[in-house]
Amino acid sequence: MKEFKLAVLAGDGIGPEIMRQAEKVLKIVEDRNGVSFKLMHGLFGACAYFETGKAFPEETIQICDEADAILKGTIGLSHEEAKKIPVDEQPERGALLPLRKRYNTYANFRPVYLPKGLSHFSPLKPEIIGEGIDIMMVRELVGGVYFGAKQRGVDENGRRFVKETLEYNEDQIRNIQKVALDLAMKRKKVLHNIHKSNVLLSSVLWNEVLDEVSKDYPLVEVKHLLVDAAATALCLSPGQFDVMVMENMFGDILSDQGGGILGSLGLMPSACMGDDKAYYEPSHGSAPDIAGKNIANPYSMIGSVALMLEMSFKMEGEAKNIWHAMQSVFSNGFSTPDLTKAGANLKLIDTDAFGDMVGEALLKAPKA
Ligand code: IPM
Ligand code: MG
Repeated sequence: MKEFKLAVLAGDGIGPEIMRQAEKVLKIVEDRNGVSFKLMHGLFGACAYFETGKAFPEETIQICDEADAILKGTIGLSHEEAKKIPVDEQPERGALLPLRKRYNTYANFRPVYLPKGLSHFSPLKPEIIGEGIDIMMVRELVGGVYFGAKQRGVDENGRRFVKETLEYNEDQIRNIQKVALDLAMKRKKVLHNIHKSNVLLSSVLWNEVLDEVSKDYPLVEVKHLLVDAAATALCLSPGQFDVMVMENMFGDILSDQGGGILGSLGLMPSACMGDDKAYYEPSHGSAPDIAGKNIANPYSMIGSVALMLEMSFKMEGEAKNIWHAMQSVFSNGFSTPDLTKAGANLKLIDTDAFGDMVGEALLKAPKA
């Protein structure tokens, strides 16, 4: 029997409760596919800091090193709680960015996927949604201003100042662009390049490299769009986009806008791929305000399992079954309270029930 080793990092806030649903789905996938997932649980984020003094402790690093893939929940604390942790050990800086760096997970895939069955969650008008939205945002994840040189100090006039550098070399740019072009080849053969070359020199280099790399992809039509215009276009005519590629910070911001288009970041899983290791995570945070209440929707966590099956373990068929199973729960009129506006005509269920229903629907799917 094939065995896959998974590092499971439930994290903080709603992380553990949505991860439980992902584990239920993994169990069903095991039974249906004759594979086995060896789950290795590790502390990660604020919970790890309070337990061990480190947000990404050595023991968790070892588990991740050993794993075939990493399934990560959510991390982070409320603004007030975060102050109890020294800045360098706060979960984002102390755990998440080091995880990305360690495994060089430079390619971040964020699906802005709104099939018809989910369209009632979107704030966009039906005529804008049309037949549904299906965009893949490809975000560079280990470069740019996130990882560039930083300096804080006091200038000669006694004023505090800060400098953060947006750094890329051409290899980093080429690598992520190739990933996006390869994906465009598999999809609609259109790539939207998101940049800010009217201001940023980094975008000028980015576009130069893209002109070179795209020569190897003559079938892909490359369209260029400034990042600010892209933000508007995403609201007005999201249907024009299929694959979009962008640097780290632009991707952080536009992918959250993608969540807005869907109606919630809770509807956006993600895959973070390096050449040797990948990790999978919801695109959203740990939602401390609703943690422990069993009302968070596990779609993004279970969707991350689907992405993992597809991208790390070549189980595309079963991944599709999971997407369909989740959508069937929604299209049968169920939802969790976190996604549901007052007055919406939906049957409210809790996190656990949502996980169970996805499991039941998956069991009914023809085996992949
Ligand atoms: C994301 C998050 C992270 C980021 C934070 C938590 C560091 O917002 O994955 O989009 O900015 O990349
Ligand atoms: Mg973000």
